[in-house]
Amino acid sequence: MTRTAGYCKGCLNYVFDYETPKTLVISSIRVGCVFRFTQLLVVLFVVGYVCVVQKAYQETDNIISSVTTKVKGFAFTNTSDMDPRLWDVADYVIPPQGDHSFFVMTNMVVTPKQTQSRCPELPSPSTTCVDDCDCIEGHNDPRGSGIQTGLCVNYSSTVQTCEVLSWCPLEIEPELPKHALLSAAENFTVLIKNSVTYPKFKFYRRNILPHINSSYLKRCEFNRATDPHCPIFRLKHIVSEAGEEFQDMAVKGGILGIIIDWTCDLDPWAGKCYPKYSFRRLDNKHPVNNVAPGYNFRFAKYYKTPDGEETRTLIKAYGIRFDIIVFGTAGKFGIVPTIVNFGAALSFLSLVPVVCDWFILTCMKKRDFYSKHKTTYLNDDADPDSISMGTTYGTQ
Ligand SMILES: *[C@@H]1O[C@H](CO)[C@@H](O)[C@H](O)[C@H]1NC(C)=O
Ligand SMILES: *[C@@H]1O[C@H](CO)[C@@H](O)[C@H](O)[C@H]1NC(C)=O
Ligand SMILES: *[C@@H]1O[C@H](CO)[C@@H](O)[C@H](O)[C@H]1NC(C)=O
Repeated sequence: MTRTAGYCKGCLNYVFDYETPKTLVISSIRVGCVFRFTQLLVVLFVVGYVCVVQKAYQETDNIISSVTTKVKGFAFTNTSDMDPRLWDVADYVIPPQGDHSFFVMTNMVVTPKQTQSRCPELPSPSTTCVDDCDCIEGHNDPRGSGIQTGLCVNYSSTVQTCEVLSWCPLEIEPELPKHALLSAAENFTVLIKNSVTYPKFKFYRRNILPHINSSYLKRCEFNRATDPHCPIFRLKHIVSEAGEEFQDMAVKGGILGIIIDWTCDLDPWAGKCYPKYSFRRLDNKHPVNNVAPGYNFRFAKYYKTPDGEETRTLIKAYGIRFDIIVFGTAGKFGIVPTIVNFGAALSFLSLVPVVCDWFILTCMKKRDFYSKHKTTYLNDDADPDSISMGTTYGTQ
C-alpha cells in the first residue's frame, strides 16, 4: 500500500499536475508599446487584407453565360487564279454559327473539280518509284493522298510516282501568297451578344447595357477610350489590341481570345457592374519554335455533273478563330462569411501574448525577474507559507 503511494508520487507527478493561468501585470512602457503595436498590426491585417483586399465578408457566385455572334462585312477579290467575286458572311464564316467562337476565313487554297479516280501521288522520297515493283497495291499511308494501286506512273516528264486511288486531281499546296486573299476582313465587324447570370444573387445582365439604344447600336464601334460599352468590334481592332498585325495573322491563320470579364461587386455601395473586354492571341506564336504555325482546316462542297458524276471543290481554309471566353465571380455581403472570416482573422489576436512573452523573456533587462514570476509551482503537501517561484519542481 505504501509502496504504491510512493510510486504514484514519483512517476505520476506530471499526470496529476494541474496548470492554471495566472495574470501577471507588467507595468512597463516598452512592453506596453510592443503589446499595443502587435495588436494594431493584427487589426490592420483584419481590416486591410480581409475586408478591403479579399472582401472576405462576401458570399460569392460563379457566372453562367451564353454568347451569340454576328459578323458583318463584304470583300471583293479579283485575282488571276479565280473569277472576280464578292464574299459575304455566308462564304467566309465557317461554320455559320458556333458555340462561344466564330471563324473568319482570310486565306485559302482551292482545288476545284475533284472526282473519285486515279492519279499519280505528289512526289516525295517515299512515293517516287522506278517501276511497279516499288508500289504496293492497297498500301495506305496516312500521310499520303490515297490508296496505292500498285502502278508506277509519270507524274511529270522527269518524275515517276506511285499511282493512288483518291479525289483527283490532288491538292497541290503552293507557297501561300504574302497577302491574305480576303485582306478586307480587317474591316469586318462582329456583334457579340452576351447574357450572364449569377443565379445565387438573381442577377441578370446583357453586354448590351440598359443605356444603349438602337440608334447608338447601329453606328457605334468598340473603342476603349470613347465607346467602352459598344458590343460591336472591328476585327482589326481586336487583333491589334492583342498586339498582333491583322494582315500578318490573316496569311496563316491563328486563334484569338476575346475575354469578357464580369467580375462584380454587387453590394449596393459598390460601383456598377459592367463587362470589361480584353484581347489576346491564344495559339502559340513562338518566334523560334515556329514549325506548323497558324490555323487551317479543309472542307469541300459537293456537286453532280450533268452526266451524274460526283465532283467536289476542296477548300483548305486559313483564318482566324475568335474564341469568346466569359468569366467572372460576383460577391455580395453575407452574414455567414462575415462571422466566419472575422472570427478566423481575430483569432490572430491570440498570438499577441506569445509575441509579448517572447519580448519580455528575451529582450528586457529584467528578463530573469519576469521569468521567475511567470511560473509558480504550488505543492499541495508543502507548507502553505512557502511558495516557490521560477523553476517548476519546487519540493525543496
Ligand atoms: C512516261 O515518261 C517517259 C519519259 O518521259 C515516256 O517515255 C513514257 O512514254 C511516259 N509514259 C506515259 C504512260 O506517258
Ligand atoms: C479598311 O477601312 C479603312 C478605312 O475605313 C481603309 O482605309 C482600308 O483600306 C480598309 N482595309 C481594306 C483591306 O480594305
Ligand atoms: C440614344 O443614345 C444616345 C447616347 O447614348 C443619345 O445621344 C441619343 O439621343 C439616344 N437616342 C434616342 C432615340 O433615345
